[in-house]
Amino acid sequence: MYKLIRFILFKFNTEAVHHFSMGSLSFVCRSRLIKKWVAKSFTYNHLQLEKQVFGLHFKNPVGLGAGFDKNALYLNELEALGFGFVEIGTVTPLPQAGNEKPRLFRLPKDKALINRMGFNNDGVEVIANRLKEWKNGSQLTVDGGLIIGGNIGKNKITPNEEAWKDYVTCFNALFDVVDYFVVNVSSPNTSGLRELQEKDALHKIFVNLQAINQQKPNPKPLLLKIAPDLTTGQLDDIVSLALEIRLDGLVATNTTISREGLATSPEEIKAIGMGGLSGKPVQQRSTDVVTYLSSKLQGKVPIIASGGIFTGADAKEKLDAGATLIQVWTGFVYEGPGIAKGICKELSKLKN
Ligand SMILES: Cc1cc2nc3c(=O)[nH]c(=O)nc-3n(C[C@H](O)[C@H](O)[C@H](O)COP(=O)(O)O)c2cc1C
Repeated sequence: MYKLIRFILFKFNTEAVHHFSMGSLSFVCRSRLIKKWVAKSFTYNHLQLEKQVFGLHFKNPVGLGAGFDKNALYLNELEALGFGFVEIGTVTPLPQAGNEKPRLFRLPKDKALINRMGFNNDGVEVIANRLKEWKNGSQLTVDGGLIIGGNIGKNKITPNEEAWKDYVTCFNALFDVVDYFVVNVSSPNTSGLRELQEKDALHKIFVNLQAINQQKPNPKPLLLKIAPDLTTGQLDDIVSLALEIRLDGLVATNTTISREGLATSPEEIKAIGMGGLSGKPVQQRSTDVVTYLSSKLQGKVPIIASGGIFTGADAKEKLDAGATLIQVWTGFVYEGPGIAKGICKELSKLKN
């Protein structure tokens, strides 16, 4: 059934379809009855899937990656679709329009996407208020317990030397309304952002965030999201930094700037232009990064795996590589709204 819907949806502009699909789901879910039906049809609960990670209880290990619900608009709907956690953002201090459209492209031959969204978002104040409202009305959610990650970034106009202040602003504004934080320095669509993955720059950001966090009666888990394009030396730096500043977790990985091994023609790729590539082409590299990090970290720092996960077998590949939780994004576009349930079901079978 979803194949037919996908066939039709793929005839239209990618970003417009994203908003149309989520808007439609949100509209029908206004009815409690329909939302209950959606939740009944799309969620899969199993004791074996529950996980306790960095002090938080996840009802299942399948999350939705950052960038899908940047503005925290669809949390109830995403919960009804069976996700154990949703990472909102990337959120920046000031609202941003992002890059010029079109900025999101499908590569069906590769089961991939290329995006250069550029951190379009409503800004941290608006998003924090939206989350506050959502939390206060949480009796309206399906069965409660959806974990919310806050993925934070810097505004385009903020120079890298001042970037740490943007992270602090977002951290303070979202502290009471998210369950964990992810520092995003790995998106390829904000000029110079990925330079912040260097050890000194990261150190500055995290020392400042931890200083605030550790003053709180209940500090929040603090994670770092990294690119799949880092060298072994850079990964080693991340490992030592993670241990030194006691990171609670890593998200591996973001999209890649590589265009290697694609089935899509070089002419089409050239016509699309710059951006981060996601989906199947990033799967292997992302698994390799997870394998490398987990071998070095020896379970001391949990890893959320992201990159090319479409099925339960893909999720298991990441868990076997050492990840504790997984996130999907491009898989949602290709596999449809049943992706979380499908993965949960397969995982619970594969575990036995
Ligand atoms: C359109 C689009 C927008 C994204 N926006 C963000 C973002 O704002 N922040 C972020 O950390 N990652 C962002 N990502 C990266 C995803 O969260 C994910 O890490 C990446 O796409 C790899 O997973 P996938 O292969 O399952 O898509 C975005 C990805 C896509 C496709």
